[in-house]
Formats: sequence, structure tokens, C-alpha cells
Amino acid sequence: MSLWRYRERLPVEPLVTLGEGDTPLVPAPALSQRTGCRVFLKLEGANPTGSFKDRGMTVAVSAALRDGARAVVCASTGNTAASAAAYAARAGLRCAVIVPEGKIATGKLAQALMHGARVIALHGNFDRALELVRELVDRHPIALVNSINEYRLEGQKTGAFEVVDELGEAPDVLCIPVGNAGNITSWWRGFCEVGVAPALHGYQAEGAAPLVRGAPVPDPETVASAIRIGNPARWEEAMAAITSSRGHVRAVSDEEILAAYRFLAEREGVFCEPASAASVAGLLRYGAEGTVVCVLTGHGLKDPDTAIGRAAAVVPCEPTIEALEEAVLGGDPSA
Ligand code: F0G
Repeated sequence: MSLWRYRERLPVEPLVTLGEGDTPLVPAPALSQRTGCRVFLKLEGANPTGSFKDRGMTVAVSAALRDGARAVVCASTGNTAASAAAYAARAGLRCAVIVPEGKIATGKLAQALMHGARVIALHGNFDRALELVRELVDRHPIALVNSINEYRLEGQKTGAFEVVDELGEAPDVLCIPVGNAGNITSWWRGFCEVGVAPALHGYQAEGAAPLVRGAPVPDPETVASAIRIGNPARWEEAMAAITSSRGHVRAVSDEEILAAYRFLAEREGVFCEPASAASVAGLLRYGAEGTVVCVLTGHGLKDPDTAIGRAAAVVPCEPTIEALEEAVLGGDPSA
């Protein structure tokens, strides 16, 4: 099964698909206990390239192929680049991705390179990269697959369909990280199409929180590199969605993001990337009531450097049984 089971609600035929969507919705007992809510995690890292971007990319690249495009391009903090590169490879299209130099996670870079995209490291941030690619596609017949592309939103709305189908009703609250603000806009579109209205709780990183501040942030900074964005393209629509849903958009600190990131890994057995943990950091800081779905947008393996830099050190061991006993059981006589 894939999100294409909703094809009658999608605007194109599935010309380019890798089996995206239909991701696990897992109960989160430790988080439920801590918050007093009934919490579920929507594991978008289970998509083919490890993030929710595949939902939009299968639709956008299918449309590009149908319309005769020969190349696709995007600006990206990493995940859109990885996804565009994979779907373009599958479709036989050329692909170029423009990323902020030195600011994308290692796994995402590896993906884009392996899929044969031209990876362009811009001496500038994501917002500048997006401005430039918009200009580029005005001058050249290349399909832009950022979330300003409507087909992207159409694909991403299917996350909402899946949640409502699986729970049998809407959750009371949807917690979701916000960067360029395409995804929160898509989820709202999906909920509206099935006639339900959970409160949208959007979370930005404190150093990259334009929607919270009500003004663009010229030099966004956060450990959550995926949402290091200062001037979201879907600003107005996202704010309209949040207001209609009687939700809110709030900020969480990098420390709170990293604490949630570790809590999910250590207590729920779920490894997501830092940006994804912003949804849980927000829930922990600001609370909620009733049934809550936290969207975990990308897999933890995307960003091994942040993980290894924050986790416990590995234990070295000489190749003898005594050393191994000490290494495994050391300091714990009951073990
Ligand atoms: N979580 C992850 C893991 C992301 O990669 C992104 C966005 C978001 C959340 C925020 O979603 O932008 O729709 O509000 N990543 C984009 C990229 C910008 O280029 O991969 P949004």
C-alpha cells in the first residue's frame, strides 16, 4: 500500500513512485504518561528516502514528467534535495539541488550525491537559495519542486488522510515542526478535505522562528538544520491554517529540541532527526489535551553527526573475555 490509494483525491497519475506514504502511527506510552495526553507518533522517516518529502515528491515529479520536463531543481536544507534526487533518478530526469554550504546533515548529502543530483553548495542560507532558484526557473524551463509547487502540497496532504483513517477520527491536536511552512499547510488541507479540524500546534526553533516573531529572521540559526529557515514561502497560508484550527505557532529552544530527540530515542525507541523532535519538544513545553499526533518528519539516520555528538561514548575493549565482562557488566554487580 502507498499514499496512491488516495489517487482519486490526487491531481496526477502515479508515474513516478517508490511506495511512499502509509507510514506507521505508533502509540507513545512514555510521552503519554509524561503529558497526560494520548500521544501517537507519525513516523514519516519510514518513507523511501527517510522523510515526509517523498509524499510531495512522488506527485510533483509525476506531474513534471507528464508535462515534459527534462530537469528538476530545488533549494533545500537537505531532505527535499534527497527526495528530489531519488525521484528524478527514478524518472530519468536531471536534478540540481541548491543547499546552504556546510549546513545540511551528512546523510542527506550522501543521498543527493548517490542519486546523481548536481549538488550546489551556496555561500548563503536556505532563504537566499530559494530566492535564487525562483529566479532560475523564470529564466529556464526547469521544474521547481520546492513546496511552492502545488503538487508537493497535494501529495503531503495524504498524511492527514492516513491519520484520520487509522484513528477512525481526527486527533484533538496535531504537533508539527515548521520550517518553510509547506507541510503544516498540506496537513491542514488534508484535514479540511475530510471535514475534520484538529488544532494545529506548529513549532519553530527559537533561533529560526519568523512566524512566532511575526517578522523574517535574516540569519536563522538552530541545531535543527532542516528548519533553519528565516522567511517561509508558505507564511500566509500556514498562519491562516493555524488560526482557522484554533491552534498556535510557538518556539522551542535547541536544548528542548535535543532533550526531546533523546527522550524519543531512549524511551520510545524512535530515532528521528532533530527538526522532527521539535514537535515533541513543543508538546512537552506547552502541553495539550486529548489525542495528540506528533509528526516525526525525518529519520534520525539523516543526521548521524548530531546523534554521535550528543550520545554516550562507545566503550573500548581488549579482545579477552575478562575485558569483555568488565566492558559489558562493569560497575553493575547485579547485571
Ligand atoms: N522536518 C524536516 C525533517 C524537514 O526536512 C523540514 C523541511 C521540516 C520539518 C519543515 O517542513 O518546510 O514544510 O515547514 N525541510 C525542507 C528541505 C525545507 O529543504 O528539506 P516545512
